[in-house]
Amino acid sequence: MIVVPGPASQELGQKIAELLKTKVVPVEFKRFPDGEVYIRFDGKVEAEDVVIVQTTSPPQNEKLLQLFLMVDNAKDLKAKTITTVVPYLAYSRQDRRFRPGEAFSIKTIVTLLEACGAHKIITVNVHNPEVLKAFKIRVEDLSAISLLAEYFKNQGFNGAFSLSLGKKAQAIAAEANNVLKGGHGYIETRRDRLTGKVTVEKKALPVKGRDVIIFDDIISSGGTMIKAIGWVKEQGARSVYAACVHPLLVGDAEDKIMKSGADGIVGTDCVPSSVSLVSVAPLVAKALAK
Ligand code: R5P
Repeated sequence: MIVVPGPASQELGQKIAELLKTKVVPVEFKRFPDGEVYIRFDGKVEAEDVVIVQTTSPPQNEKLLQLFLMVDNAKDLKAKTITTVVPYLAYSRQDRRFRPGEAFSIKTIVTLLEACGAHKIITVNVHNPEVLKAFKIRVEDLSAISLLAEYFKNQGFNGAFSLSLGKKAQAIAAEANNVLKGGHGYIETRRDRLTGKVTVEKKALPVKGRDVIIFDDIISSGGTMIKAIGWVKEQGARSVYAACVHPLLVGDAEDKIMKSGADGIVGTDCVPSSVSLVSVAPLVAKALAK
């Protein structure tokens, strides 16, 4: 097996290769003055089981194109198998046609990866794992929630209350609670498809005087997390932390979340950022070693 750390996941790719004790093929990349991207493998991939690691957080369109070029290049250069590790899979929230005539974007992305030559995709906490079953290509969805919960446990938050956002995501809080053991619950959230406005259902939660950690798959604009933090604080929580697998933190989201009263934000290196304190490298390496 050889690992190719893509331009968007150089550190994570290196870490995965170190854990697996495999060779790395570096990627030379640049952007031409007109915006087109360039990719070159600085090493041989022929007859190898190739693992391409490339996240697709914003600017997602450029990172996706780099990924398509890398996968197709590996196929042309006669790789034996191609596994693509896409820690954050862009467009995964458009997982159906919510309004008539909309594009089913995640289907298009997966179809293109398969057409380029990917044999398997490994991702982390995809927004809706159910949708992956509809694809022909095997997509393995790993969960980094326990790693995030372990981080908090090691920081002294054993016994903290775990919260997730949305009834469908209850499993996230339950998974965190397996580590933190302070009880779990969820806050129902709703987003208006046209205006993007988020509302939270103000259902009572047993958080008074407690340390609370709100787990979510993605923090993008921060709007959902800010609403949830507000409701938890209103009920008298002692502290409240925002934890997410994919800290997209668009614009000044980080600042806005802290100003809303959060005691901290913790994410993973699925998306490199100032809050990416937890590495998914061991999780991915274990999946690849299987
Ligand atoms: C939504 O279903 C997701 O789990 C996140 O809660 C959402 O994507 C976060 O988006 P934003 O930070 O823009 O509110």
